[in-house]
Amino acid sequence: MQTHTIIVPLDKLDAIINKHIIPLVKAGSILLLCGQLGAGKTTLVKALMRQIGIVDNISSPTFSYVNSYNNSDTGLIVHHFDLYRLNSVDEFFMQGFDELLQEKNALAIIEWPEILMSFFEQLQGTISGIYCLNLDHNFAQPETRYLTITPVKLL
Ligand SMILES: Nc1ncnc2c1ncn2[C@@H]1O[C@H](COP(=O)(O)OP(=O)(O)O)[C@@H](O)[C@H]1O
Ligand SMILES: [Mg+2]
Repeated sequence: MQTHTIIVPLDKLDAIINKHIIPLVKAGSILLLCGQLGAGKTTLVKALMRQIGIVDNISSPTFSYVNSYNNSDTGLIVHHFDLYRLNSVDEFFMQGFDELLQEKNALAIIEWPEILMSFFEQLQGTISGIYCLNLDHNFAQPETRYLTITPVKLL
């Protein structure tokens, strides 16, 4: 997979997701959404959910850490995490979230995944792929968002 940075205008978001992100959507995969507050992570997740046929009202699970959805036509389960307020990896394990990441029939999408980076190494062999979707601002053009997609290599 070639890594390059794409400019993501809001009116092209759906087309960009369809071309660059839908091919990564598989049961057993993990999509990491990185980027500062306001970078456009939740906006991207909502648009992605619509494209994979999740029709529920999507909102970022700020207080519950995770919302789970299910496409009854395809059987795909999607776990959408927002770990901005997660204080420790222990808390993640205590809630049993590590098991959600290992479900074979589920896709995990994680906003603010940085706290889990060392845990991902332990998932080696149990997942189809981990991809880092990084959203960035350019201060000179605050309305412009840059998206870089990188496959995360597990050692
Ligand atoms: N691709 C984009 N281009 C321009 N503005 C965007 C884009 N994505 C999101 N925004 C705007 O940025 C603001 C924050 O988006 P949001 O998705 O909530 O960010 P995050 O979840 O990263 O904190 C919203 O007002 C949204 O309309
Ligand atoms: Mg958000």
